[in-house]
Amino acid sequence: MRALPAGARACVLCVVLVAGLCVLTGLDRRTPWDAVVLLAVLYAACELLTRCRLLAHMGPAGAFFPVPLAAVFLLPPSAAALVAVPGALLGRVGRRPEGVRRLWRAAELAVAVWAGSWMFTVLDGRSPAPGAPSGLGQASALPYVLLPAGAAVLAFCGVLALLDGAILVTAERIGVRTAWRGLFLRALAPHCVHGLAGLMTAVLWRSPYGPPAALFVLLPMYLSCWVFAQYQREHEAHQTTIRALVQAVDLKDRYTRGHSERVGRAAAMMAAELGMDEERREVLRIAGILHDVGKIGVPTRVLRKDGPLTPEERRVIELHPEYGHEMVRGIGFLGEARAAILHHHERVDGRGYPYGLAGDRIPEFARVVAVADAFDAMTSTRSYRRARPVAAAVAELQKCAGAQFDGRMVAALVAALEKEGWNPVVTADEWGAGITGAGAGVGSADGGAETESAGAGAEVGGGDAAPRGVRASLLVGQRGNVPPWVGRRGWRP
Ligand SMILES: [Fe+2]
Repeated sequence: MRALPAGARACVLCVVLVAGLCVLTGLDRRTPWDAVVLLAVLYAACELLTRCRLLAHMGPAGAFFPVPLAAVFLLPPSAAALVAVPGALLGRVGRRPEGVRRLWRAAELAVAVWAGSWMFTVLDGRSPAPGAPSGLGQASALPYVLLPAGAAVLAFCGVLALLDGAILVTAERIGVRTAWRGLFLRALAPHCVHGLAGLMTAVLWRSPYGPPAALFVLLPMYLSCWVFAQYQREHEAHQTTIRALVQAVDLKDRYTRGHSERVGRAAAMMAAELGMDEERREVLRIAGILHDVGKIGVPTRVLRKDGPLTPEERRVIELHPEYGHEMVRGIGFLGEARAAILHHHERVDGRGYPYGLAGDRIPEFARVVAVADAFDAMTSTRSYRRARPVAAAVAELQKCAGAQFDGRMVAALVAALEKEGWNPVVTADEWGAGITGAGAGVGSADGGAETESAGAGAEVGGGDAAPRGVRASLLVGQRGNVPPWVGRRGWRP
């Protein structure tokens, strides 16, 4: 607790105090203790499963809310809030300080459940419209509880978002607007699904079949959460792999920093224009990001050489597509991106490398990445020249269509730019690099766009000494504009 900033400590203590009041002030002899105990044990069991070492990867990715939400619909506010406490205290916590995080999670969940149950009660969710059959167990009563149930889920979600934002602001010192931006909307869809499962659990609980029947909803829901969690973990592992590869290239060649991401973005825009489905679009974006990963295998002195390259040095650099392909060959999820990495310097007239493929023999992804790569190379600032305007870069690409680039891909980029425009993010090293010779050294041998395949090697040795301070900025990584809590669990339950 002492490790926390004073504001965060005050925030945790306040919410714990409010949770205590929520729970303790409403419990009396009329509290249905049997239901409270049963639901609390059920929720604690769900949360404990995620702590068991053997089953650590078998639980859902986040908290399993259908049980507390069933309590929202079945119990008065204080009793429902109490149901959430043991499970939240016993659940798995990935980061330290574990005790405070558990306390926080239990307190915020208790307050959110209390708010949901209060809303359900106020809107007469437990005593439906006059003349309608009473009780959640009556099938004909179901339509009358949908509105109060929806409002209860909204209240539950709203309170959680409010408290999540508060702890992010106080504990992780994130700006108020950044902390709350999108929190509610992001959480709404999963909370609605959990709310529906909670409502079905409550309906079955009150049905003639009794509480055991509720398991018919909870078990499939738990399994589906587990399947989704596996997908999420796999996706995170993929993203980590890609990030590690990109960072390795960034450390080696400062020009790929920012460039890789922009090529990925341009490639994804072109993919949408070409009518590719969501899955291929994502693979193509990854292909753009990783297209120069093979530069890891090129000696640093060659990549950063001042002045023109010797023929031998150029041959070494031209090996980078093959190096890259060797590196990613075994990474199955990259799919067609591997071909793009190997062939992104081929030309449609067959004068490219490494294999001199021509026309449609060049894989489609490679033809897309080649255009995106050239476009970003021309429109980004380098130490030896200013960025060219988008219109000039497009004109250059159109001039080279049919010889260096696939005309269909150039047209796709032009159409995408007309629709979405182009607003490249300037990375820290590009700001630091400054302009040492405006207009100088625009390498475009063969009259084509500025790419490594364009002979002069503008990308890889066009008189660009690394400015001072760049090395330090590289170590910071590319998350400068990203809130530090993005991509990790932070304080969320
Ligand atoms: Fe390349």
